[in-house]
Amino acid sequence: MKHELLFGVPLFRYYLDPSEIKEIAEKKFKDSDGLPLNETPGGWDCNVHTDFDISRQNLYTHYYDDIMKQFSDDVGLKNGKAMIHESWVNYYKGGMNQEEHDHLPSFYSGIHYIKFSDHEPVHLMNPLFQMYNMIYSSGVRGCDDDALAAHPFSKQYCCPEVKEGDIIIFPSFIRHRVNAVNSGDARISVAFNINTIEGSTRRVFSPN
Ligand SMILES: [Fe+2]
Repeated sequence: MKHELLFGVPLFRYYLDPSEIKEIAEKKFKDSDGLPLNETPGGWDCNVHTDFDISRQNLYTHYYDDIMKQFSDDVGLKNGKAMIHESWVNYYKGGMNQEEHDHLPSFYSGIHYIKFSDHEPVHLMNPLFQMYNMIYSSGVRGCDDDALAAHPFSKQYCCPEVKEGDIIIFPSFIRHRVNAVNSGDARISVAFNINTIEGSTRRVFSPN
């Protein structure tokens, strides 16, 4: 009997030279004198430095116009056009992290690795982990290597392999986290949320 996976979660990949954004981001955080640029946003349980509180100014969206055109095709939008409706920079120094969260009610979300060397990529959590864990792990309960090797699609999370300049885009319901950075180098990323201006009536953000 051949088994198959239904409703797999897509992960879209692109690349954009991050040099210009890197220069802007490094200056921005240098000028903040090592302090959180705008404080850690309320409700966040982490210590990442970020300009999220001005994400609706969408300062970085114009860098991704071509990527959004391609993404619109790739995601199969017939009448709509994907657009980034908010974007922000995350800046991690040693010990900084971001706790597990999602980006609902956005449509898709993206991460652009602006400065990235010996760092860990984002951890994308398996939205069906509890179900798989209950069904398949009764004999190998837990998340040890044996359990994960036995049932590769039941992994609790995956870390997509990325390098500096890579962009990954995934559905906004996928929970994710960044573990505490264990590197002497800063880790900088642009995060953004994607909506559609036409073709979707279910993922429309209020402008306020
Ligand atoms: Fe996020």
